[in-house]
Amino acid sequence: ARSINLAVIPGDGIGREVVAQGLKVLSAVLPQDVKLETKEYDLGARRWHATGETLPDAELEALRSHDAILLGAIGDPSVPSGVLERGLLLKLRFAFDHYVNLRPSKLFPNTASPLAGDPEIDFVVVREGTEGPYVGNGGSLRTGTPAEVATEVSLNTAHGVERVVRDAYERAAARPRKKLTLVHKNNVLVYAGHLWKNIFDRVGEEYPQVTTDYLHVDAATIFLVNDPARFDVIVTDNLFGDILTDLAAAITGGIGLAASGNINPSGAFPSMFEPVHGSAPDIAGTGKADPTATILSVALLLDHLGHRAEAARIEEAVTADLAERAGAPARTTDEIGDALAVRVAN
Ligand code: IPM
Ligand code: MN
Repeated sequence: ARSINLAVIPGDGIGREVVAQGLKVLSAVLPQDVKLETKEYDLGARRWHATGETLPDAELEALRSHDAILLGAIGDPSVPSGVLERGLLLKLRFAFDHYVNLRPSKLFPNTASPLAGDPEIDFVVVREGTEGPYVGNGGSLRTGTPAEVATEVSLNTAHGVERVVRDAYERAAARPRKKLTLVHKNNVLVYAGHLWKNIFDRVGEEYPQVTTDYLHVDAATIFLVNDPARFDVIVTDNLFGDILTDLAAAITGGIGLAASGNINPSGAFPSMFEPVHGSAPDIAGTGKADPTATILSVALLLDHLGHRAEAARIEEAVTADLAERAGAPARTTDEIGDALAVRVAN
């Protein structure tokens, strides 16, 4: 498209600082004739303290009219756990049917992986985003008593599993190695596990060019540490994907570089792009936050909107920038944003 109407949710903590750098790089990379319009939404801890609101219907409706959403970070220790997570972040993912939670993992130059032997790491996790144990289907009986019983039911539909599995096959087929690994736990979670595996195998017949593999989630954590090069595309459920992508960020030198997209591939709703990291209130305002994860999330946003060349330019800029950093002193949030904005503009 020749215009981008972007919703911006800076959110809490370092969210505002990193989003500012993401927007700086976005403006710098776009060709002159692509018009960028942004509208900021005041959502997060500040808003909740001021009004008690997390995501009012009117704002959800307004957000819907945008081409995409860029989100910084949500969460603050002053807000009870779960209020903003469920009332804002997950509400957006569910309301806008973000069934593909896309989380690439790549070891960039000069980023120290805690793993020995400088492994090759370049894979992408396609995490289901609208089902599983995240649906809030549970309850508690005799709450607060010694006889309390709590359930948290994982919801898995054939429709929901098939669409995300299909998306993962498409992504695997478009990559040089063409390998797709299903991660689940079908030796214990037999009902959901078999639904996933059956659909994975059936859809796979349509993609003979894609090599497939299955791993239980516990085994997958071992391979991510011992042999991360074996992964190309991973498809998995919402909760396993949440856990695996934090591990993936850790083995690639940290959460400061991990980008993500909450994608509705049909385009019926705006997709939302955000760094995997949280609001880091301990370093908010100090200029220590690394905006690279947000800037790489902007690249995913551009790719999703069809601006492939611009997306690639951002990734190349990050790679080149890091490659030149060996032994250099640490930079502030702003300095990193400036450096990348200059690179993508050239
Ligand atoms: C993430 C986060 C969220 C999740 C939380 C904050 C609800 O951990 O984006 O990975 O579990 O999906
Ligand atoms: Mn997480």
